[in-house]
Amino acid sequence: MVRALLAIAVPVAALVPGPWSDTSLPAQQRAALVVANLTLDEKLAFLHGPHGRNSQCTTDAKCAYVGNVAGNDRLDIPPITMQDGPQGFRVTGNKATSTAWPSGLTMAASWDPDALYAWGRGMGREFYAKGANVQLGPGLCLARVPRNGRNFEYLSGEDPFLGATLAFPAISGIQAQKVVANAKHFVFNNQETNRLKVSAKVDERTRFEMYYPPFQGAIDAGVGSVMCSYNRIGGTYSCENPETLRELKETMGFKGYVVSDWLATHSTSLMAGLDMEMPSDRFMNPAMIKTGLEEGNITASAVDDSVARILRSMFDVGVMDEPSSTWDWKKLQKNVTTEEAALVARQLSQVSTVLLKNEGGTLPLAKGQKLAVLGFADLGTVVHAGGSGKVMPSFVAKPLDTIRAAAGEGAEVSFNNGTDIAAAVELASSADVAIIFVATLSQEGRDRDSLSLDDGCVVNEREYNDQCKGNGDRQNELVAAVAAANPKTVVVASVPGAVLMPWSGDVAAILTNFMPGQQAGFAIADVLFGVVNPSGKLPLTFPNRENETELAPSQWPGLPENNPTEETYSEELLVGYRYYDAKGIEFTTGFPFGHGLSYTKFEYSDLYVFHDCLGEACDLGRPLFETVSFTVKNVGQVAGAEVAQLYLGFPKEAGEPPLQLKGFKKTKALEPGQEERVEIYLNPARDAAIWDARAHDWALVPGLFDVKVGASSRDIRLAGNFTQGMRAVPREPELLV
Ligand code: GLC
Repeated sequence: MVRALLAIAVPVAALVPGPWSDTSLPAQQRAALVVANLTLDEKLAFLHGPHGRNSQCTTDAKCAYVGNVAGNDRLDIPPITMQDGPQGFRVTGNKATSTAWPSGLTMAASWDPDALYAWGRGMGREFYAKGANVQLGPGLCLARVPRNGRNFEYLSGEDPFLGATLAFPAISGIQAQKVVANAKHFVFNNQETNRLKVSAKVDERTRFEMYYPPFQGAIDAGVGSVMCSYNRIGGTYSCENPETLRELKETMGFKGYVVSDWLATHSTSLMAGLDMEMPSDRFMNPAMIKTGLEEGNITASAVDDSVARILRSMFDVGVMDEPSSTWDWKKLQKNVTTEEAALVARQLSQVSTVLLKNEGGTLPLAKGQKLAVLGFADLGTVVHAGGSGKVMPSFVAKPLDTIRAAAGEGAEVSFNNGTDIAAAVELASSADVAIIFVATLSQEGRDRDSLSLDDGCVVNEREYNDQCKGNGDRQNELVAAVAAANPKTVVVASVPGAVLMPWSGDVAAILTNFMPGQQAGFAIADVLFGVVNPSGKLPLTFPNRENETELAPSQWPGLPENNPTEETYSEELLVGYRYYDAKGIEFTTGFPFGHGLSYTKFEYSDLYVFHDCLGEACDLGRPLFETVSFTVKNVGQVAGAEVAQLYLGFPKEAGEPPLQLKGFKKTKALEPGQEERVEIYLNPARDAAIWDARAHDWALVPGLFDVKVGASSRDIRLAGNFTQGMRAVPREPELLV
């Protein structure tokens, strides 16, 4: 009997028993109890990576991950094992597999918090399986510069509300797997040009209204860590900038720890708000910190606070209560992608595919047709972009294979990779439908040369492996020629962000799947053949022309041309669709923010705005919240889901852009004739307020607000208004239209 009992190995929690072992205590308290039990040297060991290590090794535990902090053997505190990136576990060195998920921006195109949670959960599971207890993602930077080389990694797109709303479920999904998430890069890392030195100049109101909200969403989700960025802010490096790091910790209420981007630490900046240096210990090492303590410019309480923040994040998500074996670096050799992960990745790519155009019912494709499949649909299939966020797919579902499998009885599917345009045109002219897979790519460390499809596919062979094989620099010519030969031309664009589509008026249908991940082929075939009705919406504007928002060199990439340069965010709040609305720019070949079609049609009706207030909020004449409700009905022939969007227009005197996204809701899949009553709650303290730089706080704006509800920022179906700050008592909901 005893033997049987002994045989049931009860996994030993990592931490040696102590007052901190009480799992009913709050994480902050458990962390404080451990800190009180550590020597100074033990505390300082948590604040940096291994000495002299600037890259991942494959030899031993101390450098096995991209980021490593030694554990504490005496108390059996596990090591901190960090790995990239925002779109999955980046396998480097060994060959063991993980899943290449859709990228951050791609997931933003789903506009679906449930999808973002599933994305975070799927990724977090693989980090856990690899023994990594920190995922260096999600990326949250706003797509301020359309040509930014890392927009593909960032789930905010061009809107702070979208970023804040989607960051929350992504981080919740990751951290529910006992892996600490890392919101990056804080802050104003909105370009790659000269990223290590460029100095961003951003006024306080713009900071809080445009660039901080996605990080606030991460903080509201309890994100355990934030990565401070390479760039300087007002001349001071981000990882030693007391103003922005104080705004993060004090004004925004961040309780986790700030870790530097790799080699982005420039001083022993613990007192400025940096808690941990990566990847090594050039400045945050014990000797320099002890000198600071002796000279009085570093306080013991600041050291304790940094260590407590680090340990708190580990308690909070459950790292500390796992058996030590959980965080074993030898797990890096495990293949962690699974059938389930592959299915979820396929579903996530389906729901983040955007139907931009569909004339004459070209899509969905009927079975049994003669199809010409052209471009990057075979060897050149594009699934991910480059840099530290790149995840090598364990395999790639190629569109040519999946279209052939889905085309049905009697179908004829021919292929040409588009290098020989004449041959491609020949195939297209005799097909029922021509489907062209176009693509471009981008990477960390450089911005895109342009928004053209013809730039980007051949930038870096090493970085992109076998993607974009073929004529990456004549795609616009290929599309125009094929469209001239076959009116039923469909274009599928796999792109890392905004892209120009000069031929959009000449083709019958257009889809974009952004950076779809390794299930690319299955997901796009599901959409093309109508197995899935597309519901994605653009998370950023597709412009009509290059630099349509007229960014001057002083705004991007920064002046003077030599290092270091300064980039001034003089556009302030007018980023993306906010600029287009303020300037009244119409769309000719481009597509607006929030745009996305369906194979069915939706009608909107019965808009109500319901003020409500409780207790003292009423006395102050301030509604506690506004409820905007309306009905969405499927008036088409097939089932489908709609992402309904709510935009607010502030009273003129507030000095805000014409419209701002302040709510959205993806309906369930509605059957033909079925309708759904959608309710969106506005929190006036955030959604109907502006940042008052004098008071350093949000300020409610009294006056008349426009309420616009629709299928995109430019497809408004219902309009109404409400007056804020003048009403002291709840009133009956009133029909506004
Ligand atoms: C890179 C990136 C950051 C990444 C880190 C570790 O330079 O900026 O996103 O997580 O270094 O690879």
